[in-house]
Amino acid sequence: MELSEVLTKRQSVRKYKEGDVPNTAIEEMVEAARLAPSGKNIQNWHFVVIKDQATKDKVATLIDVKNAEIAEKMAAVNEEKAARFRKFVKNFTLFFVNAPALTIVMSTRYTPSGYNEISLYDPADPELPELDSKRNPGMQSLGAALENFTLKAIDLGYGSCWLTSANYAYESIEKLVKEELGFTEDGWFFAALMSIGIPEDNPKSPAKKTRGELITWA
Ligand SMILES: Cc1cc2nc3c(=O)[nH]c(=O)nc-3n(C[C@H](O)[C@H](O)[C@H](O)COP(=O)(O)O)c2cc1C
Repeated sequence: MELSEVLTKRQSVRKYKEGDVPNTAIEEMVEAARLAPSGKNIQNWHFVVIKDQATKDKVATLIDVKNAEIAEKMAAVNEEKAARFRKFVKNFTLFFVNAPALTIVMSTRYTPSGYNEISLYDPADPELPELDSKRNPGMQSLGAALENFTLKAIDLGYGSCWLTSANYAYESIEKLVKEELGFTEDGWFFAALMSIGIPEDNPKSPAKKTRGELITWA
């Protein structure tokens, strides 16, 4: 497929038709991710691929437990906001159970250039959180890889949805990855989920900003 067609066809797909995503196709998506640029060439991505329903259900349950815990604590303070949160999480954190494939995306910490150097003379320097958190180059690198992954999925006729809304379930998901799913490397953390499948026709995407809003010609 032409690159411009892939770019315009890319949408977040949350509803999937019956049908498998072959492992060879997932390997091609990971290959696309593998080629992405990363700060200091850290290549801070690893994909734990899940295809069996019981394991997808297990991930969903871990997220649902956390959704309920947060909603309950919110409700004690503001019932209206809690109701809105319950509706949001139902639509946006659990749909992957119906996708034929789910990847748990693992990442590693990246120390931005200058971070260790500045820490050496001033560990309390306010520039440190500015470098490490707001501008987070590690997550910029991971984003490049996940976008490549997503675009390759389109190129092969599949659809995907990138999910970070459920990242608050990180503790239990990391435990599952380490104790049951076979990825036991130290220093890696859960960063995102990516569901993959054959798209239902016509997924709806929200409006995008205009090109003019995105550019300042200096
Ligand atoms: C980093 C990131 C996190 C996202 N997290 C979620 C999510 O948790 N749940 C969800 O349903 N969609 C999620 N999305 C999809 C966005 O909602 C979607 O990209 C956006 O609304 C634009 O729609 P489009 O992808 O169809 O163009 C995420 C996308 C990105 C890039």
